[in-house]
Amino acid sequence: MKRRIGIVGGGQLGRMIGLEAKRLGFRVSVIDPTPHSPASQVVDKQIVAKYEDEKAIRELAGDSDFLTFEIELANAKLLRELEGGGVSINPSPETLIMIKDKLKQSEFLKNLGIPVADFVSVNSKKDIENAALEFNYPILLKSRFDGYDGRGNALIKSEKDIDKGIDKLRDRKLYVEKFVPFVKELAVITARDIDGNITCYPVVETIQKNNICTEVYAPALIDERAAKKANSLAIKTMQHLKGAGAFGIEMFLTKTGEVMINEIAPRVHNSGHFTQDACFVSQFEQHVRAITGMPLGETDMLAKRAVMINILGDRNGKANLRGLGKALAVKKTAVHIYGKQETRIDRKMGHINSIGDTHDEALRRARKAASFIRI
Ligand SMILES: Nc1ncnc2c1ncn2[C@@H]1O[C@H](COP(=O)(O)OP(=O)(O)OP(=O)(O)O)[C@@H](O)[C@H]1O
Ligand SMILES: [Mg+2]
Repeated sequence: MKRRIGIVGGGQLGRMIGLEAKRLGFRVSVIDPTPHSPASQVVDKQIVAKYEDEKAIRELAGDSDFLTFEIELANAKLLRELEGGGVSINPSPETLIMIKDKLKQSEFLKNLGIPVADFVSVNSKKDIENAALEFNYPILLKSRFDGYDGRGNALIKSEKDIDKGIDKLRDRKLYVEKFVPFVKELAVITARDIDGNITCYPVVETIQKNNICTEVYAPALIDERAAKKANSLAIKTMQHLKGAGAFGIEMFLTKTGEVMINEIAPRVHNSGHFTQDACFVSQFEQHVRAITGMPLGETDMLAKRAVMINILGDRNGKANLRGLGKALAVKKTAVHIYGKQETRIDRKMGHINSIGDTHDEALRRARKAASFIRI
């Protein structure tokens, strides 16, 4: 049986994919530039190299039956070149190439008739001013490539913010999006297997502070109609993307009950961490199943409610975990620590999953456990 998996990226997502892959008996190798990366601590081998490193990716491909990635920075063009060789690559590099460019991604969704924020490509200050005339302030100036945790975005509330925005995102290819006055942010973790079957986990609500996800509520506290819309948008999107694997789809819910897609992550996603302790098959196992040609597993929740809270760094320096015992004394609560050697302000260092019969119960447990952990 083919049993070697290679992952481009060795962060927490690679670690959690790796743990599930190991449980299923696969041999796992990763590429990551940081020695002793979170994934390397639980898998068989790490190649210490950048995500785009050609030699390293060729080495990983040569040593793998199945190749995947946990980060959009993976060298998509090289992966496309390697496709059709001895290794099966999923999700499809073509999908990664399209998604990496947020402008192309918006065009893809719009062409499918999926609601997205109005957008326009911009190359100059004049273009941005024209976009503002068309959309009205506020607008978002966004980097087409390599944005994460909001670092590729600049909110422009009036004409006088334009220069600041251009300065923040200088030397990057840009586009402008109309600001969506959403009432909630939602997400759906969906997966497709090699044969094209698609599954979705329940729609969740994500809470962000300073553009970083802090909490996830599962299922989302929204009406049935909105949940159905979110689910069907996720399925429609997946029907048109190539390749197998788990995907995270971020959405906005508007005041009028409209659901729009914000962006697609062609990988497992922070909003799906609750599945580890609230579902029979986690998003990480689902991804492993999908890319290795196995059947997808059940996505329904075993608990009534779940809450995930991210453990974010609150200082810069060597990581030093404290309070684990106290956190583990909280009922129906699981603690996941990523093994990062260095902490930084707002760096994702771990997360907590709590389940409960009511949202308040799960939230109380997760917040209590989180209050004990220092790292
Ligand atoms: N058009 C919009 N209107 C209103 N708010 C927006 C819009 N686009 C993005 N945002 C807000 O900014 C956050 C980050 O935006 P986005 O998801 O595009 O960036 P990112 O840097 O790719 O984030 P991620 O960490 O998810 O990769 C969103 O979660 C949302 O809160
Ligand atoms: Mg986002």
